[in-house]
Amino acid sequence: MKEKRPVIKVPKKEGERTLKKLKKEERLDTERLIKQSDNELVIPVIKGGNDLSDDLQKKPYQPTPFEKVKISIDIPERLKARLPSRWERIGNVLLIKLPDELMEYKNIIGASYARVLDADTVALQGDIVGRTREPIIDIIHGSDTETIHLENRVKFKLDTAKLMFSSGNIDERIRMSKVDIRDDVVVDMFAGIGYFCLPMAVHGSPKNIYALEINPTAIGYLKENCVINGVDHIVSPILGDNRDFSFRSDADRVVMGYLHNTWIYLPKALEFLGGEGIIHFHTLVEEGNIARDTMIQLERGGIDDAEIKDIRKIKSYAPRIYHVVVDIEIGR
Ligand SMILES: C[S@@+](CC[C@H](N)C(=O)[O-])C[C@H]1O[C@@H](n2cnc3c(N)ncnc32)[C@H](O)[C@@H]1O
Repeated sequence: MKEKRPVIKVPKKEGERTLKKLKKEERLDTERLIKQSDNELVIPVIKGGNDLSDDLQKKPYQPTPFEKVKISIDIPERLKARLPSRWERIGNVLLIKLPDELMEYKNIIGASYARVLDADTVALQGDIVGRTREPIIDIIHGSDTETIHLENRVKFKLDTAKLMFSSGNIDERIRMSKVDIRDDVVVDMFAGIGYFCLPMAVHGSPKNIYALEINPTAIGYLKENCVINGVDHIVSPILGDNRDFSFRSDADRVVMGYLHNTWIYLPKALEFLGGEGIIHFHTLVEEGNIARDTMIQLERGGIDDAEIKDIRKIKSYAPRIYHVVVDIEIGR
């Protein structure tokens, strides 16, 4: 007799919402297929559920993209365990890391990852250096490093050999696209190619965004990105050190998407706000001391009585170090 396993039975119209919830809670059983009748869905779950069933079909075995890479690659079998199971995809470019023992096969590996994962270029990812956060990469397959990365209906064009794009910041880019910025004047102090100001301009309705950026290569792409996203009438890219600007003191919101002693730039952010508004302050803090580290940095930057609306973890940056964003309300 077949074993009965948990399922959730829901009316079809509730299917999409239920699936989303189950995926978020990691309760969806991906080994069995969902069954549908005229008006009901039977969804397999790992635990919980409002019924039991024994007649859901097993899903046919599908190798994961990484398994496909491993099968297709022509290197000694014993080395396959050392292949990277993770990669960063920026548009048509894949960034991977390889241990030393795989370096002599780097071109074979690059070609396989490109073929299986449908990328034009594969490069080894090195450090990101300096104030302008330039990546060091080594191309192991293909040649073109310029690409357009599409995310949340925003097009980010960039040269991945010259500029960074942090996949780990995706949740924050999406969050910034949803913040209510209607009619706001925004200053993005570290605009890059438009990591935050593009989602804000594409999805929100700000009055305008002043996008300050010190790196001429980044500002070139930012200008192009404003045009290809149809927001060049909203975003004004300005080249230079943000501390050299004193053109506004009535901004409603300042975005500080930079991670290296960001507090140094807080007095300038306060000047842009002219006494009132919101700062989205990105910084690095130690695990277990998030609130304490945040307060110390804000005080160093001249903020001691502002209201902290939120502190959100964005990603782990180094062992025991988190990248967080702090939403600070000034003077309201
Ligand atoms: C690359 S972004 C940081 C990562 C980004 N938040 C993300 O989501 O991927 C930081 C940008 O700030 C720029 N920058 C650094 N110091 C600056 C300054 N004083 N004024 C203006 N731009 C600056 C760098 O050139 C860089 O493009």
